[in-house]
Amino acid sequence: MTPQTDDRYKMVEKTMKKLGYEKGALIESLHTAQETFGYLENDVLKFISRRLKLPYSKVYGVATFYHFFRLKPKGKHTVVVCTGTACYIKGANKIVEALEKKFGIKIGETSKDNLVSLFGARCVGSCSLAPIVIYDNKPIGNLTLDDALENAKEIL
Ligand code: FES
Repeated sequence: MTPQTDDRYKMVEKTMKKLGYEKGALIESLHTAQETFGYLENDVLKFISRRLKLPYSKVYGVATFYHFFRLKPKGKHTVVVCTGTACYIKGANKIVEALEKKFGIKIGETSKDNLVSLFGARCVGSCSLAPIVIYDNKPIGNLTLDDALENAKEIL
Protein backbone atom coordinates (compact mmCIF):
# COMPACT_ATOMS: atom_id res chain seq x y z
CA MET A 1 0.00 0.00 0.00
CA THR A 2 1.27 3.48 -0.86
CA PRO A 3 0.18 6.95 0.25
CA GLN A 4 -1.73 7.18 -3.05
CA THR A 5 -3.72 4.00 -2.55
CA ASP A 6 -4.05 3.81 1.23
CA ASP A 7 -6.84 5.95 2.70
CA ARG A 8 -5.11 5.97 6.06
CA TYR A 9 -2.52 8.38 4.69
CA LYS A 10 -5.36 10.76 3.78
CA MET A 11 -6.33 10.89 7.45
CA VAL A 12 -2.79 11.92 8.37
CA GLU A 13 -2.71 14.39 5.49
CA LYS A 14 -5.96 15.93 6.74
CA THR A 15 -4.41 16.64 10.14
CA MET A 16 -1.32 18.20 8.57
CA LYS A 17 -3.47 20.32 6.26
CA LYS A 18 -5.68 21.47 9.15
CA LEU A 19 -2.53 22.68 10.92
CA GLY A 20 -1.19 24.41 7.80
CA TYR A 21 1.73 21.95 7.31
CA GLU A 22 3.52 23.89 10.07
CA LYS A 23 6.47 22.26 11.77
CA GLY A 24 4.42 22.39 14.98
CA ALA A 25 1.96 19.96 13.40
CA LEU A 26 4.42 17.10 13.96
CA ILE A 27 3.15 15.71 17.28
CA GLU A 28 -0.50 16.00 16.29
CA SER A 29 0.27 14.29 12.95
CA LEU A 30 2.08 11.47 14.75
CA HIS A 31 -0.94 11.03 17.03
CA THR A 32 -3.27 10.83 14.04
CA ALA A 33 -0.94 8.37 12.33
CA GLN A 34 -0.80 6.13 15.38
CA GLU A 35 -4.58 6.30 15.87
CA THR A 36 -5.04 5.40 12.22
CA PHE A 37 -2.32 2.79 11.67
CA GLY A 38 -2.18 1.40 15.21
CA TYR A 39 1.55 2.18 15.42
CA LEU A 40 4.10 4.36 13.60
CA GLU A 41 5.62 2.32 10.83
CA ASN A 42 8.67 3.64 9.04
CA ASP A 43 6.86 4.53 5.81
CA VAL A 44 4.44 6.73 7.74
CA LEU A 45 7.29 8.54 9.48
CA LYS A 46 8.89 9.15 6.08
CA PHE A 47 5.58 10.41 4.71
CA ILE A 48 5.18 12.89 7.58
CA SER A 49 8.78 13.98 7.19
CA ARG A 50 8.26 14.72 3.48
CA ARG A 51 4.93 16.48 3.88
CA LEU A 52 6.03 18.69 6.80
CA LYS A 53 9.43 19.26 5.19
CA LEU A 54 11.18 18.11 8.34
CA PRO A 55 14.32 15.97 8.39
CA TYR A 56 13.49 12.29 8.94
CA SER A 57 15.87 12.28 11.91
CA LYS A 58 13.71 14.93 13.61
CA VAL A 59 10.47 13.00 13.00
CA TYR A 60 12.06 9.75 14.15
CA GLY A 61 13.59 11.50 17.17
CA VAL A 62 10.22 12.86 18.33
CA ALA A 63 8.47 9.53 17.70
CA THR A 64 11.03 7.68 19.83
CA PHE A 65 11.24 10.33 22.55
CA TYR A 66 7.65 10.10 23.73
CA HIS A 67 6.68 6.85 25.43
CA PHE A 68 3.11 7.00 24.09
CA PHE A 69 4.25 6.50 20.50
CA ARG A 70 4.74 2.90 19.31
CA LEU A 71 7.16 2.35 16.46
CA LYS A 72 6.44 -1.33 16.07
CA PRO A 73 3.74 -3.74 17.00
CA LYS A 74 5.20 -6.37 19.29
CA GLY A 75 3.36 -9.15 17.56
CA LYS A 76 4.32 -10.92 14.33
CA HIS A 77 0.87 -10.05 12.98
CA THR A 78 -1.05 -6.83 13.40
CA VAL A 79 -4.81 -6.52 13.44
CA VAL A 80 -6.29 -3.02 13.52
CA VAL A 81 -10.04 -2.69 14.02
CA CYS A 82 -11.50 0.66 13.03
CA THR A 83 -13.74 1.86 15.85
CA GLY A 84 -14.64 5.21 14.33
CA THR A 85 -18.27 6.30 14.19
CA ALA A 86 -19.21 4.73 10.84
CA CYS A 87 -17.62 1.41 11.77
CA TYR A 88 -19.06 1.52 15.28
CA ILE A 89 -22.58 1.96 13.88
CA LYS A 90 -21.99 -1.06 11.66
CA GLY A 91 -20.96 -3.30 14.54
CA ALA A 92 -17.23 -2.72 15.06
CA ASN A 93 -17.70 -3.20 18.80
CA LYS A 94 -18.97 -6.75 18.21
CA ILE A 95 -15.96 -7.43 15.99
CA VAL A 96 -13.63 -6.08 18.71
CA GLU A 97 -15.26 -8.33 21.31
CA ALA A 98 -15.02 -11.37 19.05
CA LEU A 99 -11.37 -10.75 18.14
CA GLU A 100 -10.41 -10.06 21.75
CA LYS A 101 -11.96 -13.37 22.69
CA LYS A 102 -10.36 -15.18 19.75
CA PHE A 103 -6.86 -13.85 20.45
CA GLY A 104 -7.25 -13.87 24.23
CA ILE A 105 -6.07 -10.25 24.49
CA LYS A 106 -7.59 -6.77 24.78
CA ILE A 107 -7.28 -3.93 22.28
CA GLY A 108 -3.77 -2.46 22.57
CA GLU A 109 -2.26 -5.77 23.73
CA THR A 110 -0.03 -8.40 22.17
CA SER A 111 -0.52 -12.12 22.71
CA LYS A 112 1.92 -13.80 25.11
CA ASP A 113 3.48 -15.76 22.25
CA ASN A 114 4.00 -12.45 20.35
CA LEU A 115 1.99 -13.79 17.43
CA VAL A 116 -0.58 -11.01 17.21
CA SER A 117 -1.04 -7.39 18.29
CA LEU A 118 -4.58 -6.03 18.32
CA PHE A 119 -5.18 -2.30 17.91
CA GLY A 120 -8.13 0.03 17.56
CA ALA A 121 -8.14 2.99 15.18
CA ARG A 122 -10.26 6.14 15.31
CA CYS A 123 -11.04 6.16 11.58
CA VAL A 124 -8.98 4.72 8.76
CA GLY A 125 -10.57 6.93 6.10
CA SER A 126 -12.66 4.31 4.32
CA CYS A 127 -16.02 4.89 6.02
CA SER A 128 -17.99 3.73 2.97
CA LEU A 129 -16.49 0.26 3.57
CA ALA A 130 -17.49 0.12 7.25
CA PRO A 131 -16.93 -1.95 9.24
CA ILE A 132 -13.28 -2.36 8.34
CA VAL A 133 -10.40 -4.33 9.84
CA ILE A 134 -6.80 -4.18 8.66
CA TYR A 135 -4.95 -7.48 8.83
CA ASP A 136 -1.20 -7.01 8.39
CA ASN A 137 -1.75 -3.81 6.37
CA LYS A 138 -4.44 -5.39 4.22
CA PRO A 139 -7.75 -3.60 4.75
CA ILE A 140 -10.91 -5.67 4.51
CA GLY A 141 -14.18 -3.77 4.43
CA ASN A 142 -17.88 -4.59 4.77
CA LEU A 143 -16.76 -7.25 7.19
CA THR A 144 -19.22 -9.59 8.83
CA LEU A 145 -18.49 -11.07 12.22
CA ASP A 146 -17.92 -14.45 10.58
CA ASP A 147 -15.48 -12.96 8.06
CA ALA A 148 -13.59 -11.22 10.86
CA LEU A 149 -13.17 -14.50 12.72
CA GLU A 150 -12.29 -16.39 9.54
CA ASN A 151 -9.51 -13.90 8.74
CA ALA A 152 -8.31 -14.11 12.32
CA LYS A 153 -8.10 -17.88 11.99
CA GLU A 154 -5.76 -17.50 9.02
CA ILE A 155 -3.15 -15.67 11.05
CA LEU A 156 -3.29 -17.95 14.08
S1 FES B 1 -15.06 5.11 10.84
FE1 FES B 1 -14.12 3.33 10.15
S2 FES B 1 -13.28 3.92 8.28
FE2 FES B 1 -14.13 5.74 9.04
